[in-house]
Amino acid sequence: MSVNETEARALVEPRIALIPDFPEPGVLFRDLTPVFADGPAFRALAAALTAPFEGRFDDLGGVEARGFLLAGAASALCGAGVLTVRKTGKLPRAVLSESYALEYGMAGLEVHEGELQPGARVLILDDVLATGGTVGAAARLVERAGWQVAGIAVALELTGLGGRERLAGYEVYSLLQY
Ligand code: PRP
Ligand code: MG
Repeated sequence: MSVNETEARALVEPRIALIPDFPEPGVLFRDLTPVFADGPAFRALAAALTAPFEGRFDDLGGVEARGFLLAGAASALCGAGVLTVRKTGKLPRAVLSESYALEYGMAGLEVHEGELQPGARVLILDDVLATGGTVGAAARLVERAGWQVAGIAVALELTGLGGRERLAGYEVYSLLQY
């Protein structure tokens, strides 16, 4: 365990807001916005997500929406570029698209073709790993675009939803598990 990880857990975990019965009865929602609002906690989180992959990635893949915040903060700390992984229909140039299953229906993510150098090693960042549908789609986009997935890093992993199993073959890091 790195120093970053220990410090980050201590700063981040107390700042996560717990909201019972959101967005539906029986669900305990973990809200990261107080972490983003706390400068030292936010910085420690961004540093902790990239630390396990140091020297093994070229760029950060930020998944809309909260992955953008994490990738932006991590970029400022480590100097890597950010690949913008957007929800479908937002990017203005030629895109690659992937769809993935939500609890009800489907959603989609897109990246611009040619945004990064060929073969670039991309560390994918998002706030939460649940079923793995979202970051799985981001990983497929990275590979279809001719880049490599250096790993996947998230702040929170909800274990028991099969996310890590669905991402077999990828190195997955989470700071906190519930
Ligand atoms: C949430 C969260 C992750 C995703 C995790 O995003 O921010 O991206 O769900 O779930 P999964 O592992 O089952 O795919 P959401 O789709 O709610 O959209 P948002 O980030 O735009 O709020
Ligand atoms: Mg999301």
